[in-house]
Amino acid sequence: MKLLATARRWRRRVFDGLVPLVAAKLKGEPMLLEAKELRAIAACLADRGPCRFLIFGLGHDSALWARVNAGGRTVFLEDQASWRAKVAAAHPALETHLVTYATRLGQWEALLESPRQLAMTLPETVAAERWDVVLVDGPRGDLESFRAEHGIDPPGRMCSLFEASRLGAPGGDVFVHDCERPVERAYAARYLGEHNRVGDVRGRALLAHYRLPEASQSLAEKGSAVAACVLCLHSRHLRTVDGLSRGREPAVLGNHPRRRQVPRANARGSSPREIGDRPFRRGSS
Ligand SMILES: C[S@@+](CC[C@H](N)C(=O)[O-])C[C@H]1O[C@@H](n2cnc3c(N)ncnc32)[C@H](O)[C@@H]1O
Repeated sequence: MKLLATARRWRRRVFDGLVPLVAAKLKGEPMLLEAKELRAIAACLADRGPCRFLIFGLGHDSALWARVNAGGRTVFLEDQASWRAKVAAAHPALETHLVTYATRLGQWEALLESPRQLAMTLPETVAAERWDVVLVDGPRGDLESFRAEHGIDPPGRMCSLFEASRLGAPGGDVFVHDCERPVERAYAARYLGEHNRVGDVRGRALLAHYRLPEASQSLAEKGSAVAACVLCLHSRHLRTVDGLSRGREPAVLGNHPRRRQVPRANARGSSPREIGDRPFRRGSS
């Protein structure tokens, strides 16, 4: 026990030294997570020791994560093929996978209770694993700047937050960047659970830290189970009402007011400006 605590203390010291070193090396390059945010995540990894670490979004911090989690498995999911190619060329040892998000940010309210539409197609080696630590810092959810750059809305982090809740190991840690934005806030509250939020790091953005319950059923799975149950009861009701058996999409069922945990600001309705409020500079996410 004592030996374990000493090992942890040493690991933390090494990481505390590593973060400023890497940050300094990246000076002039666009590091999107700030040093205090990096440190909070590194401290969690230090406490765990080499573990399974899944990251949504590649950035200039990626090589740091692979080093901090040396001896463990660190995997990155990225949707921009050209960006992935660039990072992979600079750091060929990183395990990266190209993924697709079928959503657009504007759909966030409609999709909040639609687990089936939030599920992603992931590589088997990622889907089959339960991840001790998950960092959600992708895909892009900054509306105005993404529109200006690409002429369309960004995908938003609806799917990555949903998947984080399914892929995270029982008792696992999930970090959500940009959690001051309504979409991240609403999806993190719905699928990770506000009661599981154990800490915040405030910088230019908000990094929220969630600890998943030890019990194996995630909120996403519970959501589906409740939806399936309501679906079953509902179709029985329909059968008795008009003698027909009709199927309903979970999306429709999800509109049940008691199951929606939309924070106040979202319930009021958000303007596009609020949704992706902080512009994406290559230097802010
Ligand atoms: C908000 S960034 C965060 C990445 C990382 N955690 C960081 O702090 O640098 C997430 C997404 O932005 C996009 N992105 C970030 N930097 C980029 C760059 N220099 N060029 C193109 N896309 C970039 C990628 O699609 C990436 O998945």
